[in-house]
Order: sequence, then structure tokens, then C-alpha cells
Amino acid sequence: MRSRAGHRHQLKKSGVKAMFGRLSIAVIVLVICVISLLSTIKSTSRSFSQSEIKVDNLWNTASSGEWRPSSAPRTAWPPPSKGTNGYLRVRCNGGLNQQRSAICNAVLAARIMNATLVLPELDANSFWHDDSGFRGIYDVEHFIKSLRYDVKIVERIPEIRKNGKIKKIKAFQIRPPRDAPISWYTTFASEKMKEHSAIYLTPFSHRLAEEIDNPEYQRLRCRVNYHAL
Ligand SMILES: *[C@@H]1O[C@H](CO)[C@@H](O)[C@H](O)[C@H]1NC(C)=O
Repeated sequence: MRSRAGHRHQLKKSGVKAMFGRLSIAVIVLVICVISLLSTIKSTSRSFSQSEIKVDNLWNTASSGEWRPSSAPRTAWPPPSKGTNGYLRVRCNGGLNQQRSAICNAVLAARIMNATLVLPELDANSFWHDDSGFRGIYDVEHFIKSLRYDVKIVERIPEIRKNGKIKKIKAFQIRPPRDAPISWYTTFASEKMKEHSAIYLTPFSHRLAEEIDNPEYQRLRCRVNYHAL
């Protein structure tokens, strides 16, 4: 009797075991189905929202997360002085982005020297074999106007009347040292400028140090790059 009951008990036990096995497989299959269903719903809703993107919004400025534009002066920044120490001519060289940063440096160099900047000359031949000058690439009026509180800029070196003759000021040519410090501009270059009324810096790429311990000078370079050009 005892063994029979035990046998029945065993049968019952194995039946329960098998049921649990089947049940757990069913549960696993169900879970997989639910997950795959959820993921398809998610991906379809994503593709739907993609088609909802407004193209105009794509070009909006991204949220800055409390960062402020850094190009406006934050300390006393007087407009360029009435007088001028002379004219600064530069000849940019290299690729277009290199020449663009050279223009930023030329504006800063003119500011440092209290000079009038002559519209920077671009090296048209070296890379793109196209003789578009500054005017062909940038908006000259906008460039001069947007920097009016920073430097005086003229399109070309002026003519002077000397002994009844009209002559162009001849700029004294200098090859600036690479990554020249501010002090080179306030001493050597400024002296030559006062001596000759105009200097011509060529070549002019990487001729002013990138690292300058003066935030206002760095902001001026930003104003040129992001607002004037
Ligand atoms: C430029 O002008 C400022 C302000 O008038 C003056 O402090 C500075 O020494 C001048 N720099 C040169 C190189 O003349």
C-alpha cells in the first residue's frame, strides 16, 4: 500500500514538474513576444517623429546650456583713436581657412598698434587658382562696418600730396616672425610704422601668437571670425 501510494505520489510530482516546465517555456515565449512587440512599436514611433522634424528647426542654434557668446567686450573697450600710427598692410597666405584666421590676426594687430588696417590682401593663386580677392569672398562693407568700434579699416592705402605730386604711401615691407608675440607689434613693428607711415607684413599666416593672455584680444579675434567675415 505504502509503495503504491508512493508511486502515485511520484507520478503526480513528475506531472507537476512537466507542467511547470511547459509553463515556464510559455512564459519565456510570451516575454520575448512582448519585448519584440514593444521594440517594433518604439521604432515605428521613432520613424514617425523623424518625419515630423521641421527642416527650418534643424538650422537653429543648439541650446547653449548657460554658455554665453564670448565675442562682445566685457571690460572697457574704447573705440579706435582719432589719430593713427600709420597703415597696416598684410598679405595672407595658405589655404582659405588659414587666410581667414590671418585676417582675424591682422585686425588684432592693427588694434594693438593703433593702426589703420588696409583691407587684407589674399593669396589667390596658391590653392584655388582663382583670382577672387577679399571682395570676391567677403562682404567688405559689412566687414568694415561691423568692426567700426574696434579698428579703422580702409580699402586701399591713401595717396599723399608731396611737393605738389600725388603719391601712394609706400609701405615698408617686413617678414614677421612666426607666432610673433604682442610685444613684437608694440615695439619693432610700431617703430617701423611710425618711421615709414605704413608697413607691409608678408607673408602673414600664423604671424601672431595664438595664446594671448588678454581675453579682450581673443574676443576681438572671435568678433572678426564669427561676426565680421
Ligand atoms: C595705442 O593707444 C593706446 C590708447 O591710447 C595706448 O595706451 C597704447 O600705448 C597705444 N599703442 C601704441 C603701440 O601706440
